[in-house]
Amino acid sequence: MEFIDLRSDTVTKPTPEMREAMAAAEVGDDVYGEDPTVNRLQELAAERTGKEAGLFVSSGTMGNLIGVLCHCERGDEVIMGNLAHTFLFEAGGISALGGVFPHTLPNQPDGTLNLIDIQSAIRMEDVHFPKSKLLVLENTQNRCGGAVLTAEYTGQAVELAHRYHLAVHLDGARIFNAAAALGVDVKELTGPVDSVTFCLSKALCAPVGSVLCGTKDFIYKARRLRKQLGGGTRQAGVLAAAGIIAIETMSKRLGEDHARARRLAEGIANISGFSLAFGMPSSNMVFIDMAPSVKYSAQEAVAKLMEDGIKIGISGERRFRMVTHYWINDEAVERTINAFSRLAG
Ligand SMILES: Cc1ncc(COP(=O)(O)O)c(C=O)c1O
Repeated sequence: MEFIDLRSDTVTKPTPEMREAMAAAEVGDDVYGEDPTVNRLQELAAERTGKEAGLFVSSGTMGNLIGVLCHCERGDEVIMGNLAHTFLFEAGGISALGGVFPHTLPNQPDGTLNLIDIQSAIRMEDVHFPKSKLLVLENTQNRCGGAVLTAEYTGQAVELAHRYHLAVHLDGARIFNAAAALGVDVKELTGPVDSVTFCLSKALCAPVGSVLCGTKDFIYKARRLRKQLGGGTRQAGVLAAAGIIAIETMSKRLGEDHARARRLAEGIANISGFSLAFGMPSSNMVFIDMAPSVKYSAQEAVAKLMEDGIKIGISGERRFRMVTHYWINDEAVERTINAFSRLAG
């Protein structure tokens, strides 16, 4: 059976154009800095994010980990949301591997951290305290429903952090979705921060990889850290070739995914027993709550949908997450809405 896979945009497979480019990619040894396709991808990523340099890394997790470890020493403190991917879903890597201490603040429903909360969390110099070194923001904010942080908010948060000599790292796994949702250039969202990671392998459809961007000095340090983590790869140009198409071509079509997410949200919210957990989606994520009036548990509902050839994720006791992407067309959206109607009975 051909499944409609809405569990995440990470399930996207490379497009035929990507596969052709991968087969034809010019490659070299990237640990020597000699892979021309990786170099081209890194330059392109830096140019798009308004940074001096970029570094191809295996995953968003690795990009965030290297980003945090570049900015912090052991025992330093990093301020981030209690719903940040780096806090929830990156296996505690910043602490396990870097001895870095997370100081979490409540994410607001719009994905932001309160500026007053940030200011209060920043430690003054005192031998009893860890040193506040870094603020991590996430855009789009996954667990807040794919919420989009504006350029204005980003600028304010960065200005505040810099006033207290903290650096700012942006987990921009889906920063191209944020830019598409706001109708702005990615640079407006990434320009103010000191470093940013974005993913090629989610909505942008590349099979592997993320790019970490920052100053030349920062990326030099990041390259050593990537090596220490075992993430220096050789003829990675076969992957970077898909990454170039991800940025140049796939980033331009994300509005379609957002429109389908809205249609999916609206269709399911009209069915009795289902409601939107975070309101209408602002990007490509739809979170749905299922009322007790629906006779199934979340697991049973997922199993029922699976029988209809639809895969969705569970993100709470009676909450589901669906993510639209390149391989989800209008028909898949309508089939999913109909399958939810059958669940309602
Ligand atoms: C917001 C966010 N940041 C980082 C990541 C990590 O990316 P990866 O799965 O490539 O490690 C994800 C993955 O879904 C994510 O949603």
